[in-house]
Amino acid sequence: MTKQRLGVLTSGGDCPGLNAVLRGVVLAAEKHGLEVVGFRDGFEGLLAPASSVLLDRTQIAGIAPRGGTILGTTNRGHFVAKVGAGEKAVVPADVIENSRRVLSDAGVLALIVVGGDGSMTTALQLQQAGINCIGVPKTIDNDLEATAMTFGFDSAANAVMDAVDRLHTTATSHNRAMVLEVMGRHAGWIALHGGVAGGAHVILIPEIPFDYDIIAEAVRRREARGVHGAIVVVAEGARPRDGQQMLHPTVSGEFRFGGMGEVVAREITARTGKETRCTILGHLQRGGAPTLLDRILGTRFGVKAVNLAVEGKFGSMVSYQNYQVRDVPIADAVNRLRLVPPDGEMVQTARDVEICFGD
Ligand code: F6P
Repeated sequence: MTKQRLGVLTSGGDCPGLNAVLRGVVLAAEKHGLEVVGFRDGFEGLLAPASSVLLDRTQIAGIAPRGGTILGTTNRGHFVAKVGAGEKAVVPADVIENSRRVLSDAGVLALIVVGGDGSMTTALQLQQAGINCIGVPKTIDNDLEATAMTFGFDSAANAVMDAVDRLHTTATSHNRAMVLEVMGRHAGWIALHGGVAGGAHVILIPEIPFDYDIIAEAVRRREARGVHGAIVVVAEGARPRDGQQMLHPTVSGEFRFGGMGEVVAREITARTGKETRCTILGHLQRGGAPTLLDRILGTRFGVKAVNLAVEGKFGSMVSYQNYQVRDVPIADAVNRLRLVPPDGEMVQTARDVEICFGD
């Protein structure tokens, strides 16, 4: 008799810890006597069943320390369920029907979807159409309200910390202001945590609109105290009090962030006369080996997803709350961003160690 099966796919931007999730899924499924079918390149794999793969111990051996995803991923294609911020698109009925047929032909009882907010919106639409789904939240941005933490964030924040550590060298040797632009979309978590850990002097986040004159003053204050150099971490979604975020439309109808670091660097030079350089960390903060925390969280999320499938809790999403891995309905999880509270303890701690937020 053939074994019962779970399906799994990774969707949206790659993220450190995805492979740890896949390993967790396969090993936990084996414990329950289930097979796992992996669909390639996100939801698109549901339309290309020939490329799917039976994931067993051979495929997942040694993958937990590897960044990215062995299944591939995409944030484009037939299943895009979100366009601009807060705007929902409907996955076409024929695409959902094709997916249902492919999953049924493959003998899949439930599909584990590992992805961010957009992917959870798609999973919800599949679930509402009667396809059993379990969600596993993923994003380096750490901005989902339904979970206190997502895997990938720790690795990304560590990459920022490492970059800030390195920028101190040139900042002090050349007495320059060094600007570092980091990811995070609408949330400042990566900038805040990486910046505090690295000892940045100014951190600009989307949640606290900034003023160029106040940043310049913070840079001048260091100079006046005879300290060389300043490090300014700029979240890609940061914006001046009287200006806009730097957003660029993409072909898929979404928006990309980028460019605020250069603007801030220019304005610092204009106001202080100080030599300033900008580094854009970009995808360096999404690549490489996941940290211990992300491997463990990924493993716990993968195992929990299988347990939820075995319990028949379809339509739920794994969630991290109070140091426990639990579950919430996907329907309650989508479209709810968790932003940095400007008056929260973390921002206050940063202020207390003399970090300026440009406000
Ligand atoms: O959401 C994760 C993230 O890395 C954001 O921080 C960033 O704005 C975006 O994805 C970049 O996406 P892409 O790899 O498609 O350029």
